[in-house]
Amino acid sequence: MFLGGKGIIGLDIGSSYLKVVQLKEKKGGYELENLEMLQLPPELIVEGSIIDSLRLVESIKEVLKKAKIKAKQTSIGIAGHASVIIRRILVAEMSEDELTESIKFEAEQYVPFDIDDVAIDFQILGPSEEPGQMDVMLVAVKKDIINEYTAVVTEAGLTPVVVDVNAFALSNMYEINYEIDPDRSVALVNIGASTINLNVLKGGTSVFTRDSAVGSALHTEALQKEFDLGFEDAERLKRGEALENVEVKAADSSMRPASDEIASEILRSIDYFRSTAYQEDIHEIIISGGGALIKDFPTILAETSGLEVKVAEPFKNINVPGKFDIGYIEDVSCMAAIAVGLALRRPGDR
Ligand SMILES: Nc1ncnc2c1ncn2[C@@H]1O[C@H](COP(=O)(O)OP(=O)(O)OP(=O)(O)O)[C@@H](O)[C@H]1O
Ligand SMILES: [Mg+2]
Repeated sequence: MFLGGKGIIGLDIGSSYLKVVQLKEKKGGYELENLEMLQLPPELIVEGSIIDSLRLVESIKEVLKKAKIKAKQTSIGIAGHASVIIRRILVAEMSEDELTESIKFEAEQYVPFDIDDVAIDFQILGPSEEPGQMDVMLVAVKKDIINEYTAVVTEAGLTPVVVDVNAFALSNMYEINYEIDPDRSVALVNIGASTINLNVLKGGTSVFTRDSAVGSALHTEALQKEFDLGFEDAERLKRGEALENVEVKAADSSMRPASDEIASEILRSIDYFRSTAYQEDIHEIIISGGGALIKDFPTILAETSGLEVKVAEPFKNINVPGKFDIGYIEDVSCMAAIAVGLALRRPGDR
């Protein structure tokens, strides 16, 4: 209350990079207060599980120090795969209070774990086409995974106040940066090192989400194999730095199959969305995450999907003060998409 409106820290704990973003609310808009990223050693986090929590704690402390962040209140995000269930469900019409009372019972049939082992949240989307029913977005996250992440963050000296789901953090980022057209559907797709988060918004409301356990690590592995490189060299080459004996052009062509595989995976999710009852099409794809930085990827995805593909601009509507290196921010901003979405959250939000 007395901290002069210091924004909540949005901390995106990715498997390959930590991203922190802090925003300040200003005259009805936002201003960037802090942005920092730190590459993590491989295999600290595998398939969403924290393998080496000690080193992760150290890395979080390091990125906070680099960013000179004093605030404590933090919002973190959790990726999907095995620990998160997000589903659109049909429920008899009732008030939000009534559903709060009965959601556990309603959710039971959709959650393949013991209902007491998950934290449950929901959002009423509106009346359904079925009379007397309403559409509800159900979110269930395993308490184990929440505890795993909040323990690490607490150990690093922070106070976790919001635990979000990465796919939803993306829609927060979208909401403040883009005009919402009620008649258009957009697919927000974040391509990390080992996860793809997809969130389809219709008129700004999330109607479908899906996470896949593949990502841009495929590019790195392809380079390691093709040119017999260590992880670090392959990462440098991937970012467009020529190595002593490998040209960037050769690297681009050997990354093509990985890009094709990722694009096909995204298309599979989109086709799955199309095949469900919603009868909606997608008008454009907005990509973010480090995978969006692979030079040819936006074009490859546009060709594979036949849709318009844009790279996300998470700071489009956020004032970036002169003390920041604008060129750097433009170069890496799409990696910060989820962290921006997390930094927008406030305790008690739904
Ligand atoms: N300039 C760049 N060009 C190409 N790829 C890049 C660049 N910078 C980072 N990457 C790649 O982006 C990936 C990191 O992106 P991101 O930070 O979105 O992933 P993450 O959040 O750590 O992973 P995940 O969400 O899957 O756990 C890495 O695979 C990295 O090699
Ligand atoms: Mg990520």
